[in-house]
Amino acid sequence: MTATQTTLPANGRSKDSVLAAMEAARARDADWRDGRVFSLVFKANDDVTGLLKDAYGMFFSENGLNPTAFPSLRRFETEVVAMVGNLLHGGGTTAGNMTTGGTESILMAMLTAREWARANRPKIARPEVVVPSSAHPAFDKAAHYFDMKLVRVPVGSDLRADVAAMRKAMNIDTVLLVGSAPSYPHGVVDPIADIAALSAERNVLCHVDACVGGMMLPFVRQLGYPVPDFDFAVPGVTSMSVDLHKYGYAAKGASVILYRDKALRRYQLYATTDWAGGIYASPTMTGTRPGGAIAAAWAIMTYLGERGYLEIAAEVMRTTVRLRDGINAIDGLRIVGNPPMSVMAIASDRDNVYEIGDEMSVRGWHLDRQQFPPTLHLTVNYAHTAVADAFLMDLAQSVIAARQPSLRRTGSEAAVKAARGAARFLPNRLVSGLTARSSALFGGEGGLPQRSAAMYGMMGTLPNRGDLHELVLDLLSSFTEM
Ligand SMILES: Cc1ncc(COP(=O)(O)O)c(C=O)c1O
Repeated sequence: MTATQTTLPANGRSKDSVLAAMEAARARDADWRDGRVFSLVFKANDDVTGLLKDAYGMFFSENGLNPTAFPSLRRFETEVVAMVGNLLHGGGTTAGNMTTGGTESILMAMLTAREWARANRPKIARPEVVVPSSAHPAFDKAAHYFDMKLVRVPVGSDLRADVAAMRKAMNIDTVLLVGSAPSYPHGVVDPIADIAALSAERNVLCHVDACVGGMMLPFVRQLGYPVPDFDFAVPGVTSMSVDLHKYGYAAKGASVILYRDKALRRYQLYATTDWAGGIYASPTMTGTRPGGAIAAAWAIMTYLGERGYLEIAAEVMRTTVRLRDGINAIDGLRIVGNPPMSVMAIASDRDNVYEIGDEMSVRGWHLDRQQFPPTLHLTVNYAHTAVADAFLMDLAQSVIAARQPSLRRTGSEAAVKAARGAARFLPNRLVSGLTARSSALFGGEGGLPQRSAAMYGMMGTLPNRGDLHELVLDLLSSFTEM
């Protein structure tokens, strides 16, 4: 590792030396190419990646902030939004925008609900939003940013939203109900038809978070797998978030926020006419909007078309079924709930699943740890096709090793591998980036512990969640501190 650079170099370096330094810097990054990583990266194939880079490069400098300057980007965005709307049964009347990701799309849906309430429910001082406990934290973030109240309702025993409980959680300040298709933690699709019917009955908005599923579930259904109704075909659904940079295989920085009609989208838009710099208008959170991401999304959707997406989805689903059946066949393990697509979670009723996760890390597999209930997370993609059997073999061995401490790999070679694996994901980064306070809490020295199971077990039961919250903020702050 070279010395940390804290000031602008007096003289620039050659291109070759800059690229070499960057190559060296990525040496310890998660290597997702070999299919051993189960989150963060969605890659179709080299052909798709090549086109994405070409398209991104072509529009690398262009800025989607001003559509009159770049009619090309305006066209791409309009067509991408229309293609997604039609895929999701919008009937030609949906309106929306591209954003930089799922979080921004959800922020927009929440802001729109707040603004809609200000216009239509002026007596509501602080709008409330009712979501299942499995909904993505982007909803908490939006509530935090926009001073709304988020009411999380426990999911049912099938891990799907409990609509009767959501009904009970509503009051006169409720403006929006949310369901996921599917939820990130367990990959199950909430009963969207029931949530939307409740929204319609109470005359409030209904958002479907299809960030993960919007570009996958339609193809999964076409392939003949059972998929519950989840999109604009369901009366009462008023908005949807759909990520293109997940199962749409677009370059990172591409999502769509869609509304049932343009009247609702209107609440999302921002304009000020009093600025010295002129009239300023912007449809989403960001000012400058990356032309490359917009162009690359259009390119990949146009290139793959329905048939291309179907072929990729078919392969991903074959691998998913192979993994699901193989995991369920391992004594003590089960896939939780009934996930209809390629996102799922592994639980154990018999063993400590975090120990199993550690054993998998030691064997070079990287699975996010989840809580409530403790599970290991899997997002299956194309890269896993070639490694499904090896994964299942290692998983079976990991279960045995987790049961018998004498079989656990704790040797130095294994420890290094585990530590490298542990450093790669946010929950695991809690381990790698321990600050003084957190290392005191966890009894460490600030270095990488070899195993994280004990810590996850403890975090799940920590009585004072407030401490944990501060600890995580400490850690987040430390990431960019020298
Ligand atoms: C269901 C769901 N919603 C929203 C998001 C947020 O997406 P992003 O990370 O692109 O902001 C995710 C990310 O995994 C997700 O799984």
